[in-house]
Amino acid sequence: MLSGKTILVGITGGIAAYKICELIRMYKCANAEVLVVCTPNALNFVTRLTLQNLSKNNVAVEEFDIKDFNPEHISYADRADIMVIAPATANTISKIATGVCDNLLTSIACAFTKPILIAPAMNCNMWENPLIRENLNKLHCEILEPESGYLACGYEGKGRLCSLDKIFDKTVELLKYKLLNGKKIVITSGGTIEDIDPVRYISNYSSGKMGLALADTAKNLGADVTLITTTDVSRKYNVIKVKSALDMKSAVENEFDSADCIIMAAAVADYRVKEISPRKMKKTSDDEITLTLVKNPDILKDLCDKKKNAATADISASAPLIIGFCAESENLIENAKEKISKKGCDYLIANDISRKDIGFSNDYNEVTIINKNGGMKKLERADKKTIARGIFEEIYG
Ligand code: C5P
Repeated sequence: MLSGKTILVGITGGIAAYKICELIRMYKCANAEVLVVCTPNALNFVTRLTLQNLSKNNVAVEEFDIKDFNPEHISYADRADIMVIAPATANTISKIATGVCDNLLTSIACAFTKPILIAPAMNCNMWENPLIRENLNKLHCEILEPESGYLACGYEGKGRLCSLDKIFDKTVELLKYKLLNGKKIVITSGGTIEDIDPVRYISNYSSGKMGLALADTAKNLGADVTLITTTDVSRKYNVIKVKSALDMKSAVENEFDSADCIIMAAAVADYRVKEISPRKMKKTSDDEITLTLVKNPDILKDLCDKKKNAATADISASAPLIIGFCAESENLIENAKEKISKKGCDYLIANDISRKDIGFSNDYNEVTIINKNGGMKKLERADKKTIARGIFEEIYG
């Protein structure tokens, strides 16, 4: 099943390390070439000799263990088709998320450009620590969440390494299933920032999490990704930071000709301040002041019009698929159907922003995908990466 594939297994220093011996055997039985890199702590739980025998390769721990003419971390990063880090400790997750390269495993992860699959395992209180969650959110890797149950430390809770079958199946999926191979996907995210003066602005509560989940998922599905965002994001794919609706419009338009698909997940301000004051506006004795706002361009509609014009001029073959988002607090489906025909996009993703358990600033979402012919598909509440995968599967599956 995996013949011709090279899997780099990264083992860190947690008790679940002993389970990875069996995972290596599963990969070998499926005919994969297996390379193993351990953190020095991992060898407290499992021996180098065991791993060497199972993988039929040298086990690398220190920077100079790999016998190759290339720098060690680059050579392993180049040879492998996927890196599977299991168990991943809180320590290693946090180091990878912040770009720390203080051992061979973290250095390889930093240099790795192909898919990385991470299966964390740790004490339940460590798993619940907001700092660890924040670091996990920084990663664009595929993450297989730990399971709940009895933990080696004696606690009962979420933190057990997920099943080896799950890790194996996900590895196969990531290696074989490339739904978006060869496609260029452009995604916008975040709320636009419309300046009032050098220190004040008008914006909205969009966190950019849905757009980021779409971009990370598209990357893992093999796409060439460009994320145009108002938020601070560090990713290995192309990220273009913008501020206002006008900046966003010109950045998206620059990508139009080369894109296969444009997804407008950003919350674009409908209005901007007519005249931005070049100096900080002073408080006056008046109880009221008036700011004049002017309409921003509707980027989504303009893209759809451009596509329509391209179709009229018979150059539609290369025109991108255009997908909008629609955030509504009432009559979700009715309003979304009206919007898709008004804007003219191929799909509209509708979400209900009146709910506190999904949408704005939340890690979870629930959406209905509406196509231009009126067809609908609801994706039940799930984390935003699962929703993102569901969207791509519905559109390209
Ligand atoms: O009209 P409404 O703001 O509800 O439409 C939402 C969709 O339109 C989103 O996909 C958003 O990114 C896009 N939009 C836009 N330009 C605007 C306002 C919204 O592209 N000025």
